[in-house]
Amino acid sequence: MTVDNIVLIGFMGTGKTSCGKELAQRLQWQYIEMDKLIEQKAAMPIPEIFAQKGETHFRDLETLVCRSLAAKHKAVISAGGGVVTRPENVKILQSFAYLVLLTASKDEIYHRIMQEGKEKRPLLAKPDPMGEIEKLLAKRELLYQNAANAQVDTTGKSPQEIVGEILAMLKKSPGFTLQTIS
Ligand code: S3P
Repeated sequence: MTVDNIVLIGFMGTGKTSCGKELAQRLQWQYIEMDKLIEQKAAMPIPEIFAQKGETHFRDLETLVCRSLAAKHKAVISAGGGVVTRPENVKILQSFAYLVLLTASKDEIYHRIMQEGKEKRPLLAKPDPMGEIEKLLAKRELLYQNAANAQVDTTGKSPQEIVGEILAMLKKSPGFTLQTIS
């Protein structure tokens, strides 16, 4: 099966958004951020969805958004970090996209998230964000690995370097449509 969509998965702070934008630009494909679509559906920002409706409601919206993307072509999609926590989401995404996992060291994740402000990430807006990162990473590590078709370590790299690595990998991947990658 050949697919012509890419979904970037990975923990919060691994660079899915910045690399997704860069990758879409390089491929001249559409860029889509799942978290933005969830916010549109809920008509409120993510921290408010968590605070007012709870995580389960957020996850339900996330699954609806996964389904809504299945007819896309030539799209680079950044998923939220928790998308892999529901097997159904992974199955849907794998049905129409090549899944690239971005990883980073936990220290780099911590620093990137603190720079952006932990209040933007309700799961980490707690007294010990590093402890939460470690707990969640341990819980999710295998889920990420099992969902991914390929992975790139982003630690210490710029979005341009990371995207260069992703493109080089894609060129070597059977099952991925390559015409648009020059
Ligand atoms: C989440 C990651 C966030 C966002 C929500 C939940 C998670 O997206 O979807 O706060 O469970 O890891 P980013 O990975 O883009 O920060």
